[in-house]
Amino acid sequence: MKKIILSKTVLLLFFVFITGSFFCQEKGGKTDMNKTVTDLIQLPAPEFESTTSLEEAILKRRSIRDYTKEPLSIKEVSQLLWSAQGITDEASGLRSSPSAGATFPLEVYLAVSNVKGLNAGLYKYNPFNNTLKLLIEGDKRFDIGNAALKQGSIEKSAAMIILTAVYERTSVRYGSRSERYVNMEVGHAGQNIYLQAASLGLGTVMIGAFNDDALKKALNLPDNEFPLAIYPLGKI
Ligand SMILES: Cc1cc2nc3c(=O)[nH]c(=O)nc-3n(C[C@H](O)[C@H](O)[C@H](O)COP(=O)(O)O)c2cc1C
Repeated sequence: MKKIILSKTVLLLFFVFITGSFFCQEKGGKTDMNKTVTDLIQLPAPEFESTTSLEEAILKRRSIRDYTKEPLSIKEVSQLLWSAQGITDEASGLRSSPSAGATFPLEVYLAVSNVKGLNAGLYKYNPFNNTLKLLIEGDKRFDIGNAALKQGSIEKSAAMIILTAVYERTSVRYGSRSERYVNMEVGHAGQNIYLQAASLGLGTVMIGAFNDDALKKALNLPDNEFPLAIYPLGKI
């Protein structure tokens, strides 16, 4: 009799476990249990060829602040993230834009509002395995827009790339020259985003006018990481 009760209990526990994990998945990754499964997103591989020449992209590059309400695709945001900091030499870990002494102080975030296949939220880009990690759920346009003088391009964007820097990575090697090096670096990565957007027929603009503390808070950045530029993105 004891054996039957025991095996029934085991069966019941098994059933509870199976249905429990099913419901966890149905909730779309809001529980810790599911975090590692759904909150890490593998991005599509970047394309290395296109019908737009580099010269044409340079010619067409413009700061564009008005976008349609059409969603971006995950392929488009993947390509833009790669252009900013993607690994372009697997063996050495070198990237799409130059870095003083290859110290790589920049970090890349994607704030998603209207991208097909991605829930709204703030994600961090990992160039090594081409993934996005969900950090904060929900549309961040209001908070980021408030930090950036309520600029209209943010409100209209379908997504935003935000570049931040950890200055220490460069200052351990270059001391007081590191600040200028890091600030130059963000320009290199940003120009790549502009040219990639031009090549994809998308619009972007570099936003440098924002309140540092408010943006840092909106992105929940650690103390040693500083926001440097916002790039709203959208179809035109
Ligand atoms: C460092 C920097 C900061 C900028 N900040 C802003 C900004 O806060 N908002 C904005 O709408 N444009 C900003 N811009 C974009 C410039 O206004 C734009 O590049 C300029 O008007 C020239 O236009 P073009 O990029 O189409 O050639 C910034 C550009 C740079 C390089």
